[in-house]
Amino acid sequence: MAGFDGKVAIVTGGASGIGRETAVRLAAEGCRVIVADINSDQATETAAALATNSIGFNLDVASEQSWDDIMTCAENIFGGLDILVNSAGVGFADNFEDMPLENWNAMISVNLTGSFLGCQKAVGLMKKTGNPATIINISSVMGLVGGEDIVGYSASKGGVTLLTRSVALYCAGKGYSIRCNSIHPTYVDTAMLNPIAEALGSREVMLAGMAAEIPLGRVATPSDIATAILFLCSADAGMITGHQMVIDGGQLAGLPAQHSPG
Ligand SMILES: NC(=O)c1ccc[n+]([C@@H]2O[C@H](COP(=O)([O-])OP(=O)(O)OC[C@H]3O[C@@H](n4cnc5c(N)ncnc54)[C@H](O)[C@@H]3O)[C@@H](O)[C@H]2O)c1
Repeated sequence: MAGFDGKVAIVTGGASGIGRETAVRLAAEGCRVIVADINSDQATETAAALATNSIGFNLDVASEQSWDDIMTCAENIFGGLDILVNSAGVGFADNFEDMPLENWNAMISVNLTGSFLGCQKAVGLMKKTGNPATIINISSVMGLVGGEDIVGYSASKGGVTLLTRSVALYCAGKGYSIRCNSIHPTYVDTAMLNPIAEALGSREVMLAGMAAEIPLGRVATPSDIATAILFLCSADAGMITGHQMVIDGGQLAGLPAQHSPG
């Protein structure tokens, strides 16, 4: 893919799952990556294994001070910022009527406020150089449709969807060469699914149940998602902004056949 060599990228949630795979793939294309995560040990470990000069960074996406610190780091150590991937996220499945307020607050502050702060602070630094830059927000299929047992998660990810469109329009309107797009994965086999696997007592049973909901017959891998992220970040996607890329094996395409004729 075009245009990655020597670029500077921040990947939040970079210590695990989709974020980690994205960091690996960006570095393989020549990006210098700031692997940012609240799990700083694992972020440092991830960065040390990358193909380019990269660092781990202890970032809490819900903290404005934390974002100010990482932008200072990007500017002072790497000379600016070309790519931000907002992948940090948390999810809780709850019965709506009993849902603890602390779960709601955690999902809104990490998933939505974290993405907002990331976009706001990244635009501030990216516009300084005027180079083409991109922001990717990881939403979810649940940011496009509702979910009966994940009301708070769906609300937070729906916010990320419209945050993305609005930031894309804002940047275009200001004449900044900054594109902003969102990614909407179905189930991805990462640590985020661990509580469900534990509740079911088997990862295989969980994955089989999830795969049965997906027309292509399998859950996504972090690599499926990272491939799409790299495309949207690349120069090849230079005309794409404010877009929602759905990676769901056909899950949201429509209703499955209910009855065969005859
Ligand atoms: N796994 C799925 O099925 C799935 C599906 C759709 C969307 N998503 C979204 O994809 C993104 C990545 O999830 P994943 O599947 O790779 O999960 P994951 O649990 O493997 O990784 C999430 C990472 O976010 C980090 N994190 C959590 N809170 C943070 C904070 N306050 N500040 C900084 N880092 C923080 C965690 O430490 C972890 O490393 C999330 O936004 C998630 O909502 C996941």
